[in-house]
Amino acid sequence: MMPLKRACVVGWPAKHSRSPLIHRHWLAEHGIAGDYQIEEIGPDDFPTFIRSLADHGYVGCNVTVPHKLAAAAAMSRLDAAAAALDAVNTVWYDGNELCGDNTDVHGFLANLDDAAPGWDARLEKAVVLGAGGAARAVVLALIRRGARRIEIVNRSPARADDLAAAWSDRAHALPWSDLPEALDGAALLVNTTSLGMAGMPPLAIDLSPLPGDAVVNDIVYVPLETGLLAAARRRGLHVVDGLGMLLHQAVPGFERWFGIRPAVTPALRMLVEQSI
Ligand code: ATR
Repeated sequence: MMPLKRACVVGWPAKHSRSPLIHRHWLAEHGIAGDYQIEEIGPDDFPTFIRSLADHGYVGCNVTVPHKLAAAAAMSRLDAAAAALDAVNTVWYDGNELCGDNTDVHGFLANLDDAAPGWDARLEKAVVLGAGGAARAVVLALIRRGARRIEIVNRSPARADDLAAAWSDRAHALPWSDLPEALDGAALLVNTTSLGMAGMPPLAIDLSPLPGDAVVNDIVYVPLETGLLAAARRRGLHVVDGLGMLLHQAVPGFERWFGIRPAVTPALRMLVEQSI
């Protein structure tokens, strides 16, 4: 009998994670003898846990809030995105070496490629709302795709300044009051803040300065149709929700652990949508 390969998501809390749904779907689809579990591990226990993943029977894991920075510190090797962001969400073994990547960069790009083909053809200007961990991955992704100018708009100006400083030739921090100017002529607007998420205040902004061919992407996926996306739809803009990013960010991990690159299919999307 083939040995059972196991992976998991490690977080605190983690019980609402949709990752088991995604990976178990792929395991079944490919007939792989494996499992994907949830590990709720507190910050004090995390460094020991991650360094002894194999002893817990795991071939790798996803890492979620609040452990992404601690995970980066525990790795023997970081892929380029994880090194640039100093944050890891996907862990695997190369021999005995613990390796980490940040697949949010891939997930963000693959989602837009899927849902808005050609979105990156004229990236003269993009606007990113927020300056937290998700914003960092989005800004790195946009830099990699060749965005000429990225306006970072955040409630706390200091965090936006810090993020923009890392890419100072192409990224700029702006206060919320300058949002209309930032949106004017932008090809893409991305919300990475928690505004609009279930239980949070809505993200209420005036989208009228955006050009008619702009793409609006909310990386929030609970709810799937945020107020921002509804407003963008009313204006006739191209709308991309955040669920695809969640699905696509899971792909590289599954491939590392189980040796098959899985597909993000409508059936998978429908399955996860039903859990929202
Ligand atoms: P993540 O890792 O998911 O990006 P985070 O680092 O906590 O999470 O970042 C959350 C983002 O949402 C930040 O940009 C935060 O703004 P601040 O840097 O000013 O905290 C933004 N955010 C959260 N609640 C907000 C609110 N009520 N109004 C405006 N922005 C908010």
